[in-house]
Amino acid sequence: MKTQLVKIEEERINPGAIEKAGEIIKAGGLVAFPTETVYGLGGDALNPASSKKIYAAKGRPSDNPLIVHIAEMEDLSRIVRRIPEAACRLARWYWPGPLTMIFEKADCIPRETTGGLETVAVRMPSNRIARALIRAAGGYIAAPSANRSGRPSPTVARYVIEDLDGRVDMIIDGGEAQIGLESTIIDLTEDTPVILRPGYITEEALKEVLESVDTDAALMESGTDKPPKAPGMKYRHYAPKGNLTIVEGQPGQVIEYINEQIRKHKKAGRKTGVIATDETAGSYYADSIKNAGQRQDEAQIASCIFRILREFDDEGIEVIYAEGFDSQGLGCAIMNRLLKAAGHQVIRLPEEDEIKD
Ligand code: TXA
Ligand code: MG
Repeated sequence: MKTQLVKIEEERINPGAIEKAGEIIKAGGLVAFPTETVYGLGGDALNPASSKKIYAAKGRPSDNPLIVHIAEMEDLSRIVRRIPEAACRLARWYWPGPLTMIFEKADCIPRETTGGLETVAVRMPSNRIARALIRAAGGYIAAPSANRSGRPSPTVARYVIEDLDGRVDMIIDGGEAQIGLESTIIDLTEDTPVILRPGYITEEALKEVLESVDTDAALMESGTDKPPKAPGMKYRHYAPKGNLTIVEGQPGQVIEYINEQIRKHKKAGRKTGVIATDETAGSYYADSIKNAGQRQDEAQIASCIFRILREFDDEGIEVIYAEGFDSQGLGCAIMNRLLKAAGHQVIRLPEEDEIKD
């Protein structure tokens, strides 16, 4: 398949280009497009054949449901059985934006879109290109992140092209995704809402609107008995080609430990990389040092983590070390993605006084 590449600026949307992209989706084709979180791989959510094509293009297991993207609040009631009060409140605060809500699905949503589930995930993105495309496509676009299954989610069109060129009808290049991490997912089909995937809208932010919120216990751990409730969270994800390890401990110790490992790997002829911060980037000896920004600027760190993982691949880095981050607030989403990317390989250095004891 020949993939058309179209550039659109969010501030100056070309209606002709959007019209054309909408026609492709209405006709059962696939269009990759920008959102404020990451790029999406879109097809008509009401067309089972389109959803099947999405799974095939991504190489994704078909039991892993897709998120349905809408542009207008009125469009929600057509695809869900009921809208709980909590959902109305959340929508008022956080839609359009990086929040996905799970509802009981209406009959018009095919099982192919929901991976066989009776529930449906819905999000109203804020990116203007995404919203214009959703309208032009008839109102409902099913879209997973626009990466091949298992790879880091793309935050720029270059990486969408790398993964999907020749597998979709069109790729819209709308510049860099601002948030850089996928949406927060919250399940509203239980009595108490449950966070299934942490994201830019933090637990603290959700608690400002809801009385109580639970978090799926399987999220930050590996090897728990219970499978995660979002089927996608059980798969190896976001993985760079190199072997990634997260190192946690006092900053000085972390630097020392990582440099020691790097020395060994370099001696063995391996190319090394480190994910560091403003505070530490000057202290490492690796072949490639990526500065994710200031430690307290979590939004900045979140926005570049997937890009950094992809860049290591571009540079052929074989062994990667990342400093650990605090898992409060937005740090929870950052660590969730890093842990998955690392296949839960974490080194926890003992504190200095623990060693003395
Ligand atoms: O920010 C985002 O959410 C991006 C952009 C493109 O909107 N999309 C995205 O989609 O991250 P995807 O397919 O990569 O991740 C969707 C996650 C998966 O883990 C999937 O299992 C979960 O949502 N999910 C979808 N429908 C679900 C449902 N009915 N119940 C539980 N989990 C669901
Ligand atoms: Mg994904």
